Amino acid sequence: MIAPTTRPVDEHATALTRARYQRLSAIYDLMEGMSEARYRPWREKLWALAKGPRVLEVGVGTGKNMPYWPKDAQMTGIDLTPGMLEIAHRRAKEIGLTVDLRLGDAQALELPDASFDMAIATFVFCSVPDPVLGLRELARIVRPGGQVLLLEHMRSANPLLGALMDFVNPLVVRLMGANINRRTVENVRVAGLHIESVEDLGMGGIFKLIVARSPR
Ligand SMILES: C[S@@+](CC[C@H](N)C(=O)[O-])C[C@H]1O[C@@H](n2cnc3c(N)ncnc32)[C@H](O)[C@@H]1O
Repeated sequence: MIAPTTRPVDEHATALTRARYQRLSAIYDLMEGMSEARYRPWREKLWALAKGPRVLEVGVGTGKNMPYWPKDAQMTGIDLTPGMLEIAHRRAKEIGLTVDLRLGDAQALELPDASFDMAIATFVFCSVPDPVLGLRELARIVRPGGQVLLLEHMRSANPLLGALMDFVNPLVVRLMGANINRRTVENVRVAGLHIESVEDLGMGGIFKLIVARSPR
């Protein structure tokens, strides 16, 4: 079992992230529309691995994963940003889903230890201010041996492209709220999760599907 972390949440960085996504929330689906055709099969692939009964989606955003949620799972969705969550509420209603949607911070989840069978996030740990803190929280709230599934983009392993991503990252964060140079596979390990598989999905390994497990 993962012990609670003593590292404090950076409240200033977290408020900035929230403000960026709040600003983007009204246009988020439109803005992501072009990329969604590419993401759709990846979302399907990830959610085909989802097993309940108790599943947490962290960084649920506007609810883009809702069509792929397992029908028989008890779903909880958490997000930092009220504007994103509002759209998720609307989407759930349109699809006719029963879901527990809550405002919350991945870095300090107000959830008991081992209260979920699985935790899932898509395109979230690029924007959580302290990704290791957030990943440790996922490890804590899933039951011992429970899985954490992630679909994420990250820094390229190609040294030139990686350096370019480092260079433009500050601008991308300001505009889009997301870091493009996170070392997410490494972060998952540092958070104390056991990595079971990492699948390169596209763009030279920038997009990956990570299956990890909380220690028993
Ligand atoms: C790029 S969007 C992805 C949304 C959705 N998962 C998707 O696949 O479309 C990132 C989301 O993560 C949320 N987020 C960022 N930091 C967070 C945190 N610390 N705790 C919870 N959610 C967070 C943002 O509010 C935003 O909704």
